[in-house]
Amino acid sequence: MSAPDSLLVRACKALPVERTPVWFMRQAGRYMAEYRAVRKKHSLIEICRNPRLAAEVTITAAEFLQVDAAIIFADLLLPLEVMGLPFHFSAGEGPVIERPVRSKEDVSRLRTDSAADLGYVADAVALVTKHFGSKVPVIGFCGAPFTLASYIIEGGGSRNYIHAKTLMYSQPDVFDELLGKLVSVTAEYAAEQVRAGADVIQVFDSWVGCLSVEDYRQYVLPRTTQLVRRLKESGAPVIYFGTDTATLLTAMKETGADVIGLDWRIPLNEGWSRLEGKGGVQGNLDPVALFSDWEQVRRRTQEILDRAAGRPGHIFNLGHGIMPETPVANVKALAAYVREYSAKSGVHSHS
Ligand code: CP3
Repeated sequence: MSAPDSLLVRACKALPVERTPVWFMRQAGRYMAEYRAVRKKHSLIEICRNPRLAAEVTITAAEFLQVDAAIIFADLLLPLEVMGLPFHFSAGEGPVIERPVRSKEDVSRLRTDSAADLGYVADAVALVTKHFGSKVPVIGFCGAPFTLASYIIEGGGSRNYIHAKTLMYSQPDVFDELLGKLVSVTAEYAAEQVRAGADVIQVFDSWVGCLSVEDYRQYVLPRTTQLVRRLKESGAPVIYFGTDTATLLTAMKETGADVIGLDWRIPLNEGWSRLEGKGGVQGNLDPVALFSDWEQVRRRTQEILDRAAGRPGHIFNLGHGIMPETPVANVKALAAYVREYSAKSGVHSHS
């Protein structure tokens, strides 16, 4: 941990803060000219594997936006490679996993002994924490077992998750063994990021919203809980994020995560009340709202902050990552507005 008293870490513990911490998922990405310039010379994977470049991209975005956290530049799918699952990004298609996992034999072949080969991400975390000291906390991250399994089984992104759900329903033991292997690798990988100085770990379960709450509880919650428990042993607070999760929030909270990410489909206060006041929430501006004029963005942001009403435990973010064509000026103005409005509205001083 490098910034234990930061606004972000305090908010993760639902402690009072003088203003609402703000950062954005995908804050280092193609919407930024500086990132596109680096990407002209290096592939995404090259940036991830080169700690100096990954740290530079991470730092540039956080400093440019003046946000309250730097999320380490990496990708959700990096652990696949050390499990024996090569992948690449194809233009227009997104990630492609070269040999999707569909059978018991495929699952038993996956390795769980090489998480240390992802040490380049921890090395990048160490460079970023060295740069920021206690000024800006660093967020490490990993994928949740369901979302990673969905990529591994489908072979890439998916609309209906037919292969993933078919394996889950028809061979639940095999599906569970896959999730168990993913927990083993991602827990070690994320703990290494914490040892390198990460202050908080975010678990991305981006596609978990495709599940019914019964299926989530039966097939996914036990392994996700195991992951969260292991992450918390590392000492860092855990943010657990998914999209389309309005019906899953109560069950997601049972993982023991400190903070639950909310997407834009549910009013912030309503999502928070489904967690029965336990712990914090992160969110939840619609990333597409950033394509509108500033007044529209400002009004929607104010509404979210008013719904949070300065209750300890709110971290401002979008409901999902910043999209490639997003106007940069709106993103920068949004971070500034959250800082100013949440400090000025004064609600924080009463909490
Ligand atoms: O937030 C940040 O600034 C940190 C960087 C970050 C990246 N990926 C870099 C990246 C993070 C947190 C991720 C997580 C990630 N990766 C997720 C979970 C978050 C989410 O959006 O739900 C997922 C599902 C992935 C897998 C992945 N990586 C996809 C689906 C894509 C898009 C492919 C495409 O062609 O658009 C990527 C690529 C990727 N990872 C980019 C970035 C900045 C954009 C592409 C690029 O620079 O080439």
